[in-house]
Amino acid sequence: MKEYSFGAVRAIRNEHVSASAVPDFLSVAGTKNARRVHRALSVYEPTPLVRLDGLAQRLGVKAVFVKDESKRFGLNAFKALGGLYSLFCLICRELEIDAQTATFEDLKKPGLLEKIRTMTFVTTTDGNHGRGVAWAAHQLGCEAHVYMPVGSSPARAEAIRAFGAECVITNAGYDDTVRMTAGLAAEHGWFLVQDTSWPGYTDVPTWIVQGYTTMAEEAATQLEAAGFAAPTHVFVQAGVGAMAGGVTGYLAARYDGRRPKFIAVEPENMACIYRSAQVNDGEPHAAIDTGDTIMAGLNCGEPCTIAWPVLRDYCSWYVACPDYVAANGMRLLAAPLAGDPQVISGESGAVTAGLLAEVCGQENCAELKKMMGLDETSVILLFSTEGDTDPAGWERIVHRGAYPAPF
Ligand SMILES: Cc1ncc(COP(=O)(O)O)c(C=O)c1O
Repeated sequence: MKEYSFGAVRAIRNEHVSASAVPDFLSVAGTKNARRVHRALSVYEPTPLVRLDGLAQRLGVKAVFVKDESKRFGLNAFKALGGLYSLFCLICRELEIDAQTATFEDLKKPGLLEKIRTMTFVTTTDGNHGRGVAWAAHQLGCEAHVYMPVGSSPARAEAIRAFGAECVITNAGYDDTVRMTAGLAAEHGWFLVQDTSWPGYTDVPTWIVQGYTTMAEEAATQLEAAGFAAPTHVFVQAGVGAMAGGVTGYLAARYDGRRPKFIAVEPENMACIYRSAQVNDGEPHAAIDTGDTIMAGLNCGEPCTIAWPVLRDYCSWYVACPDYVAANGMRLLAAPLAGDPQVISGESGAVTAGLLAEVCGQENCAELKKMMGLDETSVILLFSTEGDTDPAGWERIVHRGAYPAPF
């Protein structure tokens, strides 16, 4: 691993990207059931893959595609892909239903529903995951308790309560709130639906990571329909890294033999994947940062233990960037160049677009652009993982220019 600084962007290059086969649970076959369950939902529709030709031209690359997850299930973020699928698998396991053939709709059958309603679900969230879990539990009439770390946006808490869940903002940070929630689950016999793993807690997060791969599969299929056999670069933002791990693993499997470069992106003040790459002993490591960031969904200090090995093995770069990069990404997507469609993207959703613009557009990143192999042949895939999930924050940043870039 080699570490670099370019302006305010810090980057670590992985000099030993693995060409090995992807672990089974993220292979094309291993993730098929998640797609089957999602596609059977009445609300299912692939989210748009938006093409930004004006931006591509401006940045000197061949094409830029943004997967717009603000359109997912009407929930304004991708996270319910994992929340719903894991809840489904958990219920199937508990009630001995065949998860490989049943659908979420099947769970609503009389006789079954009464048993399911005795189950109570609990989770910690910085917003989007908890909303997905509350939404899925609500459809079955189940009780859900959702805990949010100190400083969480009241608007995000309200969006969770709208699905009938109890939602409490705690006095602790994200990782301590996760520990508290796991304790409550054990104490009350509640079912923990956490979107990160640790030794001894891997089944639910494995289903969650598999659930996230649906958006990668959709993107790959949409890219093919647009005439692109594969992207050359995929930027994935990371909190605990579950989403980045799922997307990276699935796409590394799908594009075996012509794998794109994967770039994991985090806020500089909470970068546990970056930290793990920096320590470079193969193990996941907690961030040593302040946690002061506007990227609420990425404000997680401890890597997901099942996702980390995927990111360790298949990512070419690990990047830590300041908040203004995310804010720039939000503005860039909200006010696109002439001819490009608009994407409404929140702080955690837009950081990869902001980073791409920084690397390709700023003189002090020219060397990084070259090292990343970004040029006129590059086809870039980004995931805008949320819309304006904190509308007041979106307004402050996009319309009032908060978190400006330094000049
Ligand atoms: C909008 C958004 N993007 C990305 C992430 C990161 O996902 P993960 O924690 O799996 O790394 C989150 C997590 O909550 C999120 O809400």
